[in-house]
Amino acid sequence: MQELADKIASLHKEIENIALQNEEQVENYRIRFLGSKGLVKQLMSEMKHVSSDLKKDFGARLNEFKQFAEAKYEEYKEAKGESVKTKEVRTDFSLPGYPSAVGSRHPIQLTMNKMIGIFEKIGFTVTEGPEIEDDWHNFTALNLPEDHPARDMQDTFYISKNPDWLLRTHTSSVQVRVMKEGKLPIRQIFPGRVYRNETISARAHCVFHQIEGLYIDEKVSFADLKQTLYYFVKEMFGAEVKVRFRPSYFPFTEPSAEMDVSCFICDSKGCNVCKHTGWVEILGCGMVHPNVLTNCGIDPEKYTGFAWGMGVERTTMMQYGIKDIRLLSENDTRFLAQFKGVV
Ligand code: DAH
Repeated sequence: MQELADKIASLHKEIENIALQNEEQVENYRIRFLGSKGLVKQLMSEMKHVSSDLKKDFGARLNEFKQFAEAKYEEYKEAKGESVKTKEVRTDFSLPGYPSAVGSRHPIQLTMNKMIGIFEKIGFTVTEGPEIEDDWHNFTALNLPEDHPARDMQDTFYISKNPDWLLRTHTSSVQVRVMKEGKLPIRQIFPGRVYRNETISARAHCVFHQIEGLYIDEKVSFADLKQTLYYFVKEMFGAEVKVRFRPSYFPFTEPSAEMDVSCFICDSKGCNVCKHTGWVEILGCGMVHPNVLTNCGIDPEKYTGFAWGMGVERTTMMQYGIKDIRLLSENDTRFLAQFKGVV
């Protein structure tokens, strides 16, 4: 009798630990335990040898074992059914798809788009030029003498393979390329990345962006320059913003000026952004130097023009209240995700 009880107990254990891997194993299990010549049936037939006073007890035990063996089988059958069901679900095209991550526009691009849109409204078109330039387009044609400090090794990244090549230090080089094409009049803007060998800090970076503008036609005057830039400032920063021009020097323009806008962060009261002056410098500009026109094959007796170049980073930082320029190039998605939905 004990033998029979032990047998049931050990089969119980075996079933408890069983792990059926595939359909074939499930079927083998069924045959072994539940089939017509299976173990449950064999045990049942042993009952006749059990003395009548123990019959009731063994009957209950056997019944319990049978149910346990059957339950295990059902469990596997169901699991198999489940996996079939899952497969069906995967091919159910009516279910919504997996969400894909949507990016956002970079704040630099947002600012550039706004600036470009303003100039496009008054007829400027966009042209891009190469970031790797030669010395002539970046310096010589722009009337920058050989000994000009901007050519200094400390400011310019030269390409070691060819000392005539460099990473452009400003977008003014695109002026030269467009003028050389010889199609007049010119009314274009040139957005893009520029490079200078500067120590990276919260306010400066060795890679940044500029938007250059160039207008060349007959009888273009400084009044046209001022009116164009006044219009830009009002559109960009609002009607209340004040503007001032300061005389300046650039080799490629004569006369030259720098343009400041009243600080709209502190309402000209003085803050860190305007270095407590109430004014923020936003661009350099001037009338295109006759030497530059000549270098590019344009007759300075017949044509005049104006040009300007402005940085994009500072305006971006002012617009969005960004305190450290490095955030703009670190690709930290926690920072960038804040511009989701901004267009
Ligand atoms: N290229 C100058 C710079 O990088 C900016 C500039 C000043 C551009 C005067 C111009 C200009 O076109 O007329 O600082």
